[in-house]
Amino acid sequence: MNVTRIIQKKRDGEALAAGEIFAVIEGYVSGAVPGYQVAALAMAIYFQGMDESETSALTRALMESGECLDWTGVEGLRVDKHSTGGQGDKVSLVLAPLAACCGLQVPMVAGRGLGPTGGTIDKLEAIPGFRTDLGAADIRRITDEVGCVIASQGDQFAPADGKLYALRDVTATVASVPLITASIMSKKLAEGLDALALDIKWGTGAFMKDVASARSLGAALASVGESMGVRTSCLVTDMNQPLGRAVGNANEVREALAALSGEGPADLMEVVYELGALMLTSAGQSEGKAAARATLEEELASGRPLEKFREMARAQGGNAETELELAPASEVRASRSGYVSAIDGEALGYALIALGGGRRSLEDTIDPAVGLEMNVRLGDKVEEGQSLLDLLSNGRGNDEALTLVEGAISITDELASMVPSLIEGGS
Ligand code: URA
Repeated sequence: MNVTRIIQKKRDGEALAAGEIFAVIEGYVSGAVPGYQVAALAMAIYFQGMDESETSALTRALMESGECLDWTGVEGLRVDKHSTGGQGDKVSLVLAPLAACCGLQVPMVAGRGLGPTGGTIDKLEAIPGFRTDLGAADIRRITDEVGCVIASQGDQFAPADGKLYALRDVTATVASVPLITASIMSKKLAEGLDALALDIKWGTGAFMKDVASARSLGAALASVGESMGVRTSCLVTDMNQPLGRAVGNANEVREALAALSGEGPADLMEVVYELGALMLTSAGQSEGKAAARATLEEELASGRPLEKFREMARAQGGNAETELELAPASEVRASRSGYVSAIDGEALGYALIALGGGRRSLEDTIDPAVGLEMNVRLGDKVEEGQSLLDLLSNGRGNDEALTLVEGAISITDELASMVPSLIEGGS
């Protein structure tokens, strides 16, 4: 294999053969292909893109670098959801147990925070004792016994993606549709799913800044999923402000538990129900969206999903019965009167990192008690001095976080035309 020739082909806009893609990925994992050549190839892909068959080949190469769950002989349907990420997105914590209560099996492999976007695994690790580094046998057993499990990617699922992602992170090659598609789908397809519902976020806090890019990412993800035999459907949802009030780790777990107790904020519950409806209908568990939503709402009201979350936590070594501690809160107030016309989600994500609630480098440890609690939403009319949000801080990075949040919330005299908190069903 001549890697230089492969890089050159992609640089000049030619399509790569599946064999060439597999050879580069296998060589990268074994150490035969150096990181600088893979970085050059990633940059060529960033600029030239990949067609459907190249993206599928890259997905398979990443997926087959690790374990794939095999459900042969196990009853039931395996269905999962995935979000492309943002701030305050605690949907997985609510939807995994809710979907399990509706009869689905949810063997979820989730991620840690990525840049300014939060991660399900970091949130769950705010629960004392909660273990996410589970092996394939434990994932199968807990899925079978409880109905849902949330585990981390670790070195076992798509390890080539872990290595490639770290390289993309430092070579400015993250925001590429084929690279994101292969990265996400390699992990999700390793779960051995029957169906997958995707939540593609767009807006100030998301990787995709506009609806058109979110739609093309959704189409690419759905096409790879379908080509690999997994019924894949997607929503395009709004990430121009945090989902719910809480942005952080322990505080997001608290908000998720409140949602499981029937007290979830409306925007969060809308995404939970819409995505849950896609999971139920694509698995053939409900006849149509209206019936699926009714099932989900009824099930949530029964209280069983809250108990299911606690059961999942126990099965993963955690205790979700005790209230999680939060860092001391201080209010950030409006410097003028007017309308909240824009919220920079990315800046809020970086404020959380400054407080210690996210990572700047892989080795950083997270303080689960810190975070942000939003007191306003887009379009709200505020008076000077009114509280915009609470900063939950243990002292670390306070000034930097304050500067970031103050700059993140725009207050103007006129109410700018509001973007609908759009929920759009995709393919
Ligand atoms: N999430 C992933 O897992 N990979 C990406 O490339 C982007 C978001």
